[in-house]
Amino acid sequence: MADTEGSKDTKDYFLDVPARHDGFFLKGAHQLDWGMRNRLARIFRPASGRTVMLAIDHGYFLGPTSGLERIDQTILPLLQYADALMCTRGILRSTIPASFGNGVVMRSSGGPSTLKELSNERIAVDIDDAVRMNVSAMAVQVFIGGEFETQSVHNMTQLVDMGLRCGVPTLGVTAVGKNLTRDARYLGLATRICAELGAQVVKTYYCTEGFETVTAGCPVPIVMAGGTKLPELEALTMAYNAVTQGAAGVDMGRNIFQSDAPAAMIQAVGKVVHELLKPKQAYDCYLTLKSEQAKAGK
Ligand code: R5P
Repeated sequence: MADTEGSKDTKDYFLDVPARHDGFFLKGAHQLDWGMRNRLARIFRPASGRTVMLAIDHGYFLGPTSGLERIDQTILPLLQYADALMCTRGILRSTIPASFGNGVVMRSSGGPSTLKELSNERIAVDIDDAVRMNVSAMAVQVFIGGEFETQSVHNMTQLVDMGLRCGVPTLGVTAVGKNLTRDARYLGLATRICAELGAQVVKTYYCTEGFETVTAGCPVPIVMAGGTKLPELEALTMAYNAVTQGAAGVDMGRNIFQSDAPAAMIQAVGKVVHELLKPKQAYDCYLTLKSEQAKAGK
């Protein structure tokens, strides 16, 4: 029994003060359950409402992509700058320290390698394992217009159902095929389908014309995919354009880990995403950090 001797017995119920009921900082998430919002708040910074997610899940269909041959050597030093990490459960268990405290978005679909039809994916993770790994979200590829479109959408809706039972959000990743145009009309279609069918967050590519209509038409947060490696200033400009046109951050891989100076690049991306630093200033910041790191022999 608790020791109640000498307990203070005056009480204050703040009778004149209505109970606080804070909204939630993320679009479309205000009616989600507490656990799901808590997980989303591990991915997105509440102060800015945006995220710098580092995507390193390429190996699930590409094998040891350049920059990811030895994740312990190249990626672990970057974790301190990432709000969230997107990776497979294999890399999470084998290589990522369990002390990593930010968001983990676990790749939860897979099947075909780059040698086969990529849209022929299946769910590749059990919800029990996602919960066991304490992940913040599950990511699934959705191939709108692809050969296995319906199957990939069904993968997503199954994960959404499993995730809702356990408070784990689902990130719908819109894949783009060789024959699909990355314009606002297509991206608007793909992202809206993901959100309508239950994804709590959607990842998609940037397009130069009308990206703001893609973000406006999607009732949940959109994170911008990085895509193939660009010169650093171009990548920073694309990130700036995306967040100022409504994206809730970025989920970038190759433009960070294939940079000449990955640690400098991820920090510069962070300045753009969270402080809305202009691309030229962010690029200067990248160059300064790069030269400091070179001097320090990192
Ligand atoms: C989508 O196919 C996967 O999530 C990729 O591994 C990831 O999106 C690629 O990131 P990035 O295009 O920025 O290298």
